[in-house]
Amino acid sequence: MSAKPETSKPEAPGVHEKPFWSLRPKSDRQAGDAVVSNFLLHWFPAKVYKPSLDWNYSFWLGTASAALFLLLVLSGLPLLLLYVPSVERAYGSVKDIEFVVTFGWWIRAVHRIAAHLMVAVVFLHLVRVFLTGAYKNGTGRGQHREWNWVMGVVMILLTLFLSFTGYLLPWDQLAYWAVTVGTNIASSIPFVGPDVRELLLGGRTIDQATLIRFYVLHVIFLPGGLGALLAYHMWRIRKDGGLAKADREVLETTRKEAAPGKTKTYTLLGVARGTSPLVRASSLERSELTVNSVNDLVRRVYIVVLGTFAVVSILACFIPSPLEEPANPMITPNPAKAPWYFLWLQEIVTDTTVKIGSFTINGAFLGGVILPGILLTALTVWPWLDKSPMEAAGAWFHASRKRQNAIFLIVVAIILAFTIVGTFMRGPYWHFFWPWQAWPELPTRI
Ligand code: HEM
Repeated sequence: MSAKPETSKPEAPGVHEKPFWSLRPKSDRQAGDAVVSNFLLHWFPAKVYKPSLDWNYSFWLGTASAALFLLLVLSGLPLLLLYVPSVERAYGSVKDIEFVVTFGWWIRAVHRIAAHLMVAVVFLHLVRVFLTGAYKNGTGRGQHREWNWVMGVVMILLTLFLSFTGYLLPWDQLAYWAVTVGTNIASSIPFVGPDVRELLLGGRTIDQATLIRFYVLHVIFLPGGLGALLAYHMWRIRKDGGLAKADREVLETTRKEAAPGKTKTYTLLGVARGTSPLVRASSLERSELTVNSVNDLVRRVYIVVLGTFAVVSILACFIPSPLEEPANPMITPNPAKAPWYFLWLQEIVTDTTVKIGSFTINGAFLGGVILPGILLTALTVWPWLDKSPMEAAGAWFHASRKRQNAIFLIVVAIILAFTIVGTFMRGPYWHFFWPWQAWPELPTRI
């Protein structure tokens, strides 16, 4: 009789062989495999620097912004099937979504609330990045965090414009007049202002040409552009060796500059030559401070994304979406207000006239052009103006950035104060009213 053949224990299936991705890789190898063998997880590096996952460093505001963008795309798709971009039928189709389609009111509310929240959360993310000096580079090779900041500035503009173009679509009084006031701010640009407004509107008045322009921008170009920039933004974070906090921790712990990494040279069939695009993020060399993305990072991302979805879904059950009378160019509401995120500009446009000697700068020019122009330019070039040391990167309120943080916070406080005044304390003829004061009765036709 022949001896029984030795049976070896079958190996545990690799993460990539399982029908569903395992949340519990048993080794570094499995965790690495999970990243390379899964399309969605490719987004992440194999390892991340543990301190940069701290909840109180980034507050995960960037991830929450991305989650809101995803939710906007998901909730926008069913709306796309039901909405009709024609001045005769737009209002009726939104009314159908609100009152006829099963759960239409909820999908519309999710879309609306996510849009408003996204403007606020992206703004808070910008504030966090500024206050932590996270546009600064550390010791890693090939870092260009300043470019991610510049991309961020473009992304916040796209976010605002995405929300603004969506504002018009219900074609009710609120939509019509908010867009009228918003585009009037643009027309205060000297010389080219009226042309810019005309280009935006597709004519002199808000009409079918405007609706179709705003619709196409809203459903194709702006989300497409924002999605592409978001992918670039994430890629840059990886190229920069993770969040700025990683560089800071390395500087703190080693207190000396990391030696540059070895880059390999290569040739391809003797035709192309170059150096490998290996980025040596000094931080990731310290293995005791790194963790596997699967599952330390991935689990947190899940929590933030699902948490964001849950908050918006619950809010949508309780906050109804407004739908006023159909748009009527003959009846101007008094006051007519721009969307809330432009009200700080409307406040300046409507109420400010500055006199310097014999010069008078009117509010429209100041609020429509000078101030936004100066703020936007300063914001874009700030990483190059900030001369604080490398240690300030990724640190909340670093001592060396005291003055610039104070100036930044004062500007933020003014913008917030003007937004609150514009939203809650401006009544007919843009007169000031305390929130508890009643507005005078006025005829609606003015
Ligand atoms: C649609 C808008 C945006 C999305 C979805 C987004 C997404 C993200 C995500 C997911 C991160 C990783 C850290 C985190 O979760 O906070 C991040 C980091 C970063 N973002 Fe954004 N972002 C947006 C807008 C902006 C804006 C407006 C700015 C600045 C003007 C900006 C500048 C940066 C920088 C510099 C980092 C690296 C931060 C660090 O190293 O600590 N981003 N962004």
